Amino acid sequence: MQLSQRKALIEKSFIEHYGAPPTLFVQAPGRVDLMGSHTDYNLGYVLTQAIDRNTLIAARPRADGVARLASLNVAGISEFDLANIERDTIHPWSNYIRGVADVLQKEGYPLAGFDGLIHSTIPFGSGLSSSAALEVAAAVLFESLADWEIAPVRKAILCQRAENEFVGMNCGILDQYSSAMGVSGSVILLDCKAITHEIRPIAPGVQVMICDTKAKRALTGSEYPERRAQCEEGARILHRFYPEIHSLRDASLDQLAAHQADLPSVVYKRCQFIIEENQRVLDMADALAAGRHEDAGRLALESFAGARDLYEIVCIEMIAMKEAIITAPGALGTRGAGAGFGGCLVAFIEEGAQEAFAHHVFDSYVEQTHIEPEIYPAHAAAGAGVIQF
Ligand code: GLA
Repeated sequence: MQLSQRKALIEKSFIEHYGAPPTLFVQAPGRVDLMGSHTDYNLGYVLTQAIDRNTLIAARPRADGVARLASLNVAGISEFDLANIERDTIHPWSNYIRGVADVLQKEGYPLAGFDGLIHSTIPFGSGLSSSAALEVAAAVLFESLADWEIAPVRKAILCQRAENEFVGMNCGILDQYSSAMGVSGSVILLDCKAITHEIRPIAPGVQVMICDTKAKRALTGSEYPERRAQCEEGARILHRFYPEIHSLRDASLDQLAAHQADLPSVVYKRCQFIIEENQRVLDMADALAAGRHEDAGRLALESFAGARDLYEIVCIEMIAMKEAIITAPGALGTRGAGAGFGGCLVAFIEEGAQEAFAHHVFDSYVEQTHIEPEIYPAHAAAGAGVIQF
């Protein structure tokens, strides 16, 4: 849907909900990681881009310090008083906004009340960071409503804190950073320890595709925190032997191998994946910049294999999707996007092959799973901000 169509749709519904049109529109994009699964909370690297799917919030200020939220994607209205922010168990989606408000206030930023209406084109639960987009859009909204400014990188950090502390999901910085800091037309090499990035070129000839398995996953379950705890345990054990190791980012495969007997075997596997994956991020950035497309494809498939065998975050729908992709015309390679356990795969294909690729992947995936996938190109988008119509 075109932006102008979305605007018209939102304005109409806004007036129906609140009796007057919105005065402000903000947006924050989703993201797709091209390489680097679960490296962010290990303070490593991720090659990432914001995508041309985003969350819009239309708003109109209120003078009474109340925030009222509705969404065109999900039913219900969630209302809260900024002076007393609690979790909403009936409309859990609103907790991403409540959490951001809570963290901003605790940091001393004054907030203003508003009527708000959300519209998102990021599919939920598919590994493209719909939650982070909602958080970052909320941060931009609060900033614009109350007329102060914070740097985008700080917004990302505060939104991550909201997700960790208010929502209760102990994610890393990847999603919020990508949404706040995305650069139109560019991929970014994110350093999660320094919380900085470099823009990396992609040589022509390769196209990034998103292949959504439509297998939904919920990260509030135990798998994600369990993986994180296993990595932290590995880093703690290695630190005893190598005081300079504070996270898996600091560890090498040789150091890990030298202490295989000191780590529980499952922890060892998790650490091996992260250390290898971190190196793959750097190798991938180089391969894409140099136009070494076959190397890029091979690295993606190595990431997929490690995620399946060592990190164990690959489900059967992801395996079916990978099979569909690697047999498709123009395919170079593929890997899981986001946390895994379902959601999207990101595929690297030869430019020009898009249509034939999408047809083949669709048919082959439906044949294997009887689920209709969604397949579309990913274009690197700019980070969050106010929309000037
Ligand atoms: C989720 C988390 C991120 C990151 C990815 C896996 O998207 O929110 O912080 O850990 O999974 O790379």
